[in-house]
Amino acid sequence: MQAPTRPDRNIALELIRVTEAAAIAAARWVGRGDKMAADQAAVDAMRYVLGAVAMDGVVVIGEGEKDEAPMLFNGEHIGDGRPPMVDVAVDPIDGTTLTSLGRKGALAVIALSERGSMFNPGPCVYMKKVAVGQRGRGAIDVNASITDNLKELSRALKKPVQELGVIVLDRPRHDELIAEVREAGARISLISDGDVAGAIATCWPDSGVDVLFGIGGTPEGVLAAAAIKGLGGEIQGVLHPRNDDERNAAESLGYDLSRVLATDDLVAGDDCFFAATAVTDGDFLRGVRFYDFGATTQSLVVRSRSGTVRTVETFHRHDKRAEFTNTGF
Ligand code: FBP
Repeated sequence: MQAPTRPDRNIALELIRVTEAAAIAAARWVGRGDKMAADQAAVDAMRYVLGAVAMDGVVVIGEGEKDEAPMLFNGEHIGDGRPPMVDVAVDPIDGTTLTSLGRKGALAVIALSERGSMFNPGPCVYMKKVAVGQRGRGAIDVNASITDNLKELSRALKKPVQELGVIVLDRPRHDELIAEVREAGARISLISDGDVAGAIATCWPDSGVDVLFGIGGTPEGVLAAAAIKGLGGEIQGVLHPRNDDERNAAESLGYDLSRVLATDDLVAGDDCFFAATAVTDGDFLRGVRFYDFGATTQSLVVRSRSGTVRTVETFHRHDKRAEFTNTGF
């Protein structure tokens, strides 16, 4: 057995300040029909606070390439340059459309892990995913049929397939998948966006969600893996090119498109940190609320090494915040 060590810095506790700032900034745009403005507000706020975190970070998953994304672009160095050296994945809003339409399930998200440990999606926009919570570990296989996955999961969770809760992005590409789940008799929750929250829900005891299936963003898959590592669940993915150009681009860069990416392939090592703050209400966190003198946020903070999972409710005073940060968020 390893000798116990004194608890060290849990950088995720600092990261919630980053996601809180992004969520509050984005929340001002809820329902206003402008997802670009919501995203930009979240990016600006996130970047401003990230600069103050003591770390030498490189963005592995960001807003895209430098020319298209002026901030938080892939390869950008962030933090104040002091150790630890880390990979950084950000999604200032997972669910920009949810935010712009005032729908449930939008999160501001960040994850950190040791340098070189995060899977770099490169040109691979989509990934076929399956994710489960702790009791479903070992029961899933991204290459097996939906029916077989549900049978195995039913065995592992000791409940009939008809009582399993499945979460799926509502997309035409999932028509067959959805038909197969229905044929098997399981219950489905169709979400219009936000599969990071969907994957986390599988690990959340009273969410009613047991498994996530379907094709979604690869960056979101890496972020979900960072959370799931600490939450004790499992995620598997296989890259899913949208067309021949994407397939050729990925293959020429050496990506193996048949490889099953397990949780530890998406985020290797055992010191990974995840923080998310709800922009709008969701299955496990309440969205931002504004009051005449401030705002409240609810966040999730997870560290894989210690397995600690915290939900943090914060009250932000507008007057103090403005004095302190000199910003409008
Ligand atoms: P954005 O907030 O960046 O738009 O992403 C939302 C999202 O629903 C993700 O959660 C999901 O992984 C991805 O988009 C699915 O992609 P698509 O909308 O192209 O099907």
